[in-house]
Amino acid sequence: MPDIIVEGKNKLNGKIKVQGSKNAVLPIIAASILIDGKTVINNCPDLSDVKASMKILEYLGAKCFYKNNCLIIDASNIKGCSIPEKLMREMRSSSLFLGAILSRMEMAVICSPGGCELGPRPIDLHIKALKELGAETKEQNGNISFKLNGGIIGNNIHLSFPSVGATENVIIAAALGNGTTTLNNAAKEPEIVDLANFLNKAGARIKGAGSDRVVIEGVKRLNPIEYSVCFDRIVAATYISAAAICGGDIVLNGVNIGQLSSVVSVYEEAGCLFSAKNKDLRIIAPKKLKSVSTVRSLTYPGFPTDAGPLLISSLTVAKGTSIFVENIFENRFRYIDELKRLGASIKTEGKVAVIEGVSRLCGAKCYATDLRGGAALVVAGLGAEGVTQIGKTCYIKRGYENIVKDLSSLGAKIKEA
Ligand code: EPZ
Repeated sequence: MPDIIVEGKNKLNGKIKVQGSKNAVLPIIAASILIDGKTVINNCPDLSDVKASMKILEYLGAKCFYKNNCLIIDASNIKGCSIPEKLMREMRSSSLFLGAILSRMEMAVICSPGGCELGPRPIDLHIKALKELGAETKEQNGNISFKLNGGIIGNNIHLSFPSVGATENVIIAAALGNGTTTLNNAAKEPEIVDLANFLNKAGARIKGAGSDRVVIEGVKRLNPIEYSVCFDRIVAATYISAAAICGGDIVLNGVNIGQLSSVVSVYEEAGCLFSAKNKDLRIIAPKKLKSVSTVRSLTYPGFPTDAGPLLISSLTVAKGTSIFVENIFENRFRYIDELKRLGASIKTEGKVAVIEGVSRLCGAKCYATDLRGGAALVVAGLGAEGVTQIGKTCYIKRGYENIVKDLSSLGAKIKEA
C-alpha cells in the first residue's frame, strides 16, 4: 500500500460529497444473508472492509458483485455457517455476521475475535443476547459455536451497555424470529436506524430504532430490495477537522447535520462557523482555532469516539489547552505518539488526553496505528509546515474511499507514493 504524502499549510476550499457510511453498510451487508434473493445496495463505499465482507458472504455461498458504489448480493444459495479465522481477523466487525448466519442456518461458528488496534474487542454482550434468543453456545479450540433448536425465539433483552454491534446483531437475528423481541438499552446510533430502515423495506417489522428501546416483531420472510446507505458522519467529521486545522472554507454535500450536532458544537466553540442548506454543510474555519472545554466521547448522540482522533489532531495547533476523555475504547490513543513526531504536545493518562496547543506542527514521517488514528495523521499533515509522510495507510483504506482524492479536490497538496 503506498504512503500518503502531504504538503501542509494549504487552505482548503470547495465542495465534496461525503461517501456512504462504513458503519451502516457493514451490518446491512450482514443482514442481506436473511434475504433469499438479490439485494442491491447503493451509495456503498468502496472500502477494504466492504471487500472483506464480500469475501465472507462468498465463503458462505452468496454471490457478490461491486461496481460504481453499487453492491449486488445474491444470498439465495447460502449454505455455510462458519467464518474462517483468516476472514475474522481481516475485519474486526465480522462478529456482525453472527445474528444473520444463526437466523438463516440455525447455527454459526466463529473464531474468538482477537483484539484490534483499539484494545480488546469482546463480544460477550452479543453472546449473552443471542443465548437469550434461544442459541446454545460452546467455546472450544478458540472457536465459539452457536446452535438453535427450532429457530430464534423472541424475548425481552437488556444490554448492560448500549453496544452498537450487539444491538445490530439482535435486530438482525430477531427480524425472522418466532414472536416479538424487545431490546432495552439499545444503542441509538444513526447507523442502527439505517439498518432498521433497510430491513423494514424488505418486510421486517422493527420499531424504535434510534431510541434505547427497539421492538422487533418476527416475520416469516424478507423480500429482495434495493436500498441506498446513509452518509458517513465520521468521514464528515474528518473533513470538518481538515478544514478546521488549515483555516479552510468548505462545503460537505449529502450530510444530515442533525447527526453531527455534537461534533459541530465543539468546532463552533473552537471558532468555526457553520451553515446548513438542504444536505449541504458549510464550514468556515478561523485562522487559528481556540481550545475547547473538556470533550468526552459518549454513545450517540454524545460526541462520537471515532471523531476523537480527528478533533485531537486539529486541536494540536489551537490557542490554549484542551482535554479529551475517551470513554468507549480502552486503547484509542496509540496514534498520539505519531502526532508527537510532528511536534504535537499531548499528555495522556489512562482515558484522558491533555492537548496543549503549539504554534506550529512540522512535517515528519509517521505511521497509521488504526483507521481513525491514521486519518488524524493526514489531518495533522494538512496543518503542518513542510511535508508529512504517512505509512501503513492500509488502515485508512478500511474506512475512507479515497481520502487523497477528496482532500485534493479541496485544494490540499496530497498524493500517494
Ligand atoms: C461500532 O463498533 C463501530 N464499528 C465503531 O467504529 C465505533 O467506534 C463503535 O461502534 C462505537 O460507536 C462498526 O460499526 C463496524 P460497541 P462496535 O460494541 O460495535 C465494548 C470505526 O472507526 N463491548 O458499541 O464494536 C467494546 O469493547 C469503528 O469506524 C463489550 O465490552 O462498538 C467497546 O469498549 C471503530 N462487549 C465498547 O463496548 C461486547 O460484547 C463499545 O463497543 C461489545 C462491546
